Amino acid sequence: MSARRLDGTAVAAAIRSELAADVAELTRRLGRPPSLSIVLVGDDPASKVYVRNKEKAGAEAGLAVTVHRLPATAALDDVLSLVRALNVDDRCDGILVQSPLPPAMGKQASEQVFDAIAPAKDVDGFHAENVGRLVQGRPLLPPCTPTGVIALLEREGVRIAGTHAVVIGRSDIVGKPMAMMLLQRDATVTICHSKTKDLAAVVRTGDIVVSAIGRPGYVTPEMIKPGAVVVDVGTTPVEDRGIVVRLFGPESPRVASFDRRGSTVVGDVHPAVAEVASALSPVPGGVGPLTITMLLRNTLEAARARLAPAGR
Ligand code: GUN
Repeated sequence: MSARRLDGTAVAAAIRSELAADVAELTRRLGRPPSLSIVLVGDDPASKVYVRNKEKAGAEAGLAVTVHRLPATAALDDVLSLVRALNVDDRCDGILVQSPLPPAMGKQASEQVFDAIAPAKDVDGFHAENVGRLVQGRPLLPPCTPTGVIALLEREGVRIAGTHAVVIGRSDIVGKPMAMMLLQRDATVTICHSKTKDLAAVVRTGDIVVSAIGRPGYVTPEMIKPGAVVVDVGTTPVEDRGIVVRLFGPESPRVASFDRRGSTVVGDVHPAVAEVASALSPVPGGVGPLTITMLLRNTLEAARARLAPAGR
């Protein structure tokens, strides 16, 4: 069996074309394009790439995207002051502070910064109030990656209700909200993590498996129930050719691509899982394009709510 590919690129393109009408309507009503402010602190290479992709996608969708860059030496107070200024800036609809923040800012820095963002502008959905609302099943701005996974499953016709969904990983950004969103769609949900006993056996009971741990090729075919639907949320940049050869085979197009670029992004799911699963969302081309699409959608929601706050 070879799994059906859950095509995140196609689903994201369809949703983005649906959003175009919302962008036009909001631009007319606001008298300006809906706007997204991105705060990037320091020089983390992966963060720079993520921010560039968000900026590009926003501009292509017709949003006004402003990137505020602060040096790695900035103080936590500098970030908090910028966020507070954006909170009260009428021309700013959505705020996103790219994580991770520089380690020198301290362990709790991200939490403090996320909680400083006005919940109504928190397009990442990371503010404690938005997390609480998600848990209660009345989200305002839901986190982008798990929302993207749900959109992919629903648009590709995957039934969630009544299934056993296994989420691997318990991060605040993906694992925990993912589990909550699957539960709200009537799945029975298990969250696995580094201390789970016999993780492989637990994962093998999943009708839907979502992996978000950032370990290339960790989920192998023996861990998957035949016919399960597998969603790969892991995205680990790999610069070791040996890993790419081991996972994809020496003659694979992936190794050829690695040889051209010197690196590649690899998911948590071993490619051989495609022989066992009924459907598989790959890396790249799976959840990634949907995450950014959900960010665009959240920005439009935030802008719409600012026009009609009573409607919330
Ligand atoms: N770093 C990695 N993923 C994310 C994300 O979704 N949002 C933000 N703000 N930072 C991230």
